[in-house]
Amino acid sequence: MSRFEEIFRTGEIPLYLAPMSGFTDIAFRELCKEHGADVLVSEFVQSEPLIRGRERTWRDVDFTPGQRPMGIQIFGANPDSMARAAALLENRLYPDFIDINFGCPARKVVEQNAGSGLLKDLPLLEKVARAVVSAVPATSVTAKMRLGWDSHAFVHIEAAKRLEGAGVRVLAVHGRTKAQGYSGEADWEKIAEVVRAVQIPVVGNGDIRDAETALRRVRETGVSGLMIGRGALGKPWLFSQIKNALSGNAESGAETPTTEAVFSTLLRYAETLAKTRGDAGTQNIRWLLARLHPFTYGVVGGKRVRAELASCTTLDDLRRLLEKN
Ligand SMILES: Cc1cc2nc3c(=O)[nH]c(=O)nc-3n(C[C@H](O)[C@H](O)[C@H](O)COP(=O)(O)O)c2cc1C
Repeated sequence: MSRFEEIFRTGEIPLYLAPMSGFTDIAFRELCKEHGADVLVSEFVQSEPLIRGRERTWRDVDFTPGQRPMGIQIFGANPDSMARAAALLENRLYPDFIDINFGCPARKVVEQNAGSGLLKDLPLLEKVARAVVSAVPATSVTAKMRLGWDSHAFVHIEAAKRLEGAGVRVLAVHGRTKAQGYSGEADWEKIAEVVRAVQIPVVGNGDIRDAETALRRVRETGVSGLMIGRGALGKPWLFSQIKNALSGNAESGAETPTTEAVFSTLLRYAETLAKTRGDAGTQNIRWLLARLHPFTYGVVGGKRVRAELASCTTLDDLRRLLEKN
C-alpha cells in the first residue's frame, strides 16, 4: 500500500478538492490546501499532448511539493496512449497517484469515447484502466466516474467492480449521469451502492456546499472520502468548516470570513496565479479575471467588484479596486 493510500486508514475522512478545469490551477489548489483540503488533483489533461511534450499541458499538471498528496488526472480512450502518458508522468513528476477520468460529459471529450463516453463501453473502460495500472508500478492509480450515460443506463456497480478488478485503488463517484451534466441533484443513494459493491475506498462527490451536508453524506453512505468542487470555488475555507464538523466541533460555522478577508484572499490568489505565468504587477492579468468571480459571490459589495473586475488589466488595477471596496 502506498503512502497516499494510507490516508484512508487513519480513521478520518479525507477531503479532496475536485478537479475543475479552468479553476483548480496550482494557485487555487495552494489556497485549498492551506484551508484543510487533504488531497489535490490536477485539472484533466489528454494523454496525447503529454506524449507529444506539449509545454502548456505539462505546465497544467505541475505542482509544488507542499501540494502532496497530489494526483494528475488524464483522459483518453486509447489504452496504449493512456499507458504511455501515465509512464511519462510517473517518471517525470512522481505524482502520488494518477487518476483516470471516466466522467467528463463535454462533447469534445465524449466524441472521442473518452471521459464519460467510456461508460458506454465497459470492456474498453476496463482495458484503459488495466493498461494504466500496468504502466505505473510505483504509483497508485485511481479513477473518477459518473453513474452511467443516462437514467436508462446506470452502470455504476459494474463499472466500479471492473475498475477494482483492474487494480484501481480508489474510486471517486460523482452521483450524476452524463446526460444530467450538472443539473438535478447528485444521487448519493447510488454512491452508497458503489460503497457496498467494492472493497476499495470510495470517495463521494456531488453538491456538497456546506459542512452539514458533508456530515450527513458521510453518515448516510459510508464513503471513505469526500470530494468537493463548486462549493469550494471562491470559498476555500469550506474545507476547514467541513473538517471541524467531521471532527465533532459544534462551532463549525465560526470560520466564515469577513468581506475584507475574502477580498484579501482574492488578491493573494490573483498575485500567486499571475506569478505562475511570470506576470509582474504591470503585466496583463485579464486571462485570470474569470477565476476571481467566485470570490465575489455572497459577500457585501461583491456584485460591484465583479462588475468592475472587467476593467482591470494589471494587478495594480485590482489592488486599487479592492482598496476602494
Ligand atoms: C468548471 C468545471 C470544470 C470541471 N473539470 C473537471 C475535470 O477536469 N475533471 C473531472 O474529473 N471533473 C471535472 N469537473 C467535475 C467536478 O470535478 C465534480 O465532479 C462536479 O463539479 C460535481 O461536484 P460538485 O457538485 O462538488 O461541484 C468539472 C466541473 C466544473 C464545474
